[in-house]
Amino acid sequence: MSIAFAQDAVSAQAAALQADALAGLSGAQKTLPCKWLYDSEGSRLFEAITRLPEYYPTRTEMRILEESGGEIAEAIGTGAAVIEFGPGDGAKAVQLLGALEAPAAYLPVDIAPEWLEAAAARVSAAFPALRVRPVVADFTLPFELAGRAAGSRTHLGFFPGSTIGNFEPRDAVAFLRRARASLRPGARMLLGADLVKDTAVLEAAYDDAAGVTAAFDLNLLSRLNREAGADFDLGAFRHEARWNPELERIEMHLVAQRAQSVELGGRRFRFAAGESIHTESSHKYRPERLSALAASAGWQPRRMWTDPEALFSVWLLEA
Ligand code: AVI
Repeated sequence: MSIAFAQDAVSAQAAALQADALAGLSGAQKTLPCKWLYDSEGSRLFEAITRLPEYYPTRTEMRILEESGGEIAEAIGTGAAVIEFGPGDGAKAVQLLGALEAPAAYLPVDIAPEWLEAAAARVSAAFPALRVRPVVADFTLPFELAGRAAGSRTHLGFFPGSTIGNFEPRDAVAFLRRARASLRPGARMLLGADLVKDTAVLEAAYDDAAGVTAAFDLNLLSRLNREAGADFDLGAFRHEARWNPELERIEMHLVAQRAQSVELGGRRFRFAAGESIHTESSHKYRPERLSALAASAGWQPRRMWTDPEALFSVWLLEA
């Protein structure tokens, strides 16, 4: 990438962040889109979250992939091309590919080339003979695999981590529909979804004792100060994780500790004491609700695996 091009990309991103913040802070309930949580500091903090004792999803899903790997592989069959949406560090792909019988290729899809390189390098190191073809694309939009999965018997979409839970349910349906359109007819999808459970367990997972999730949430305000010219006083906001029982989701909020006003993009936003910015939703699913959501996007649930405590679920869907 040339320097001029890289700078254009950075300023386009800063403009998009500022536009989203101006829109989100203008509503009755102030909000910020959760995708902006993941700058390099946010991504580092998220990695730290996945290792916290309270944050059960990552290790539980990994355990399901390990313990049910044989059954998952049998249900998928031989020669699948694995297309992973948002591969992270590639650790779950290594686990899955190690269980599958003669996978034909691994295609991680992400908008951020640096994430793709990390995942591709990890998978290539674990399976030197496997065809690894990264796809730079925004997987929330339609994208083309072109000939990258040529020679495979089937396409297996892979969307672990319960990232589906960060979408509003209607956006989750739209995502699953588009994923179906990007994959070959008859494709399968291995999908990780977090389950509804005890409120105390959920709230602790999103508000840990060491304060890592609080730092992850508050980093969004630092980012707005750095990249969108805002003047948030970080000490004047507190992270809160709330279970919303009607919508069955954990919500992350940044709560103003006193009445104050903040400047951003030449505008002033007022906060009453106790008023919050809603920064992320993490929907938790009951199996019947996840099944219905997948079916409404044209995916038939074929199998579901869970852990002994029924904390997390891994689904095999068929287009
Ligand atoms: C990325 N995503 C699945 C995480 C979740 O659990 O919703 C993001 C996260 N936010 C706070 N902790 C983890």
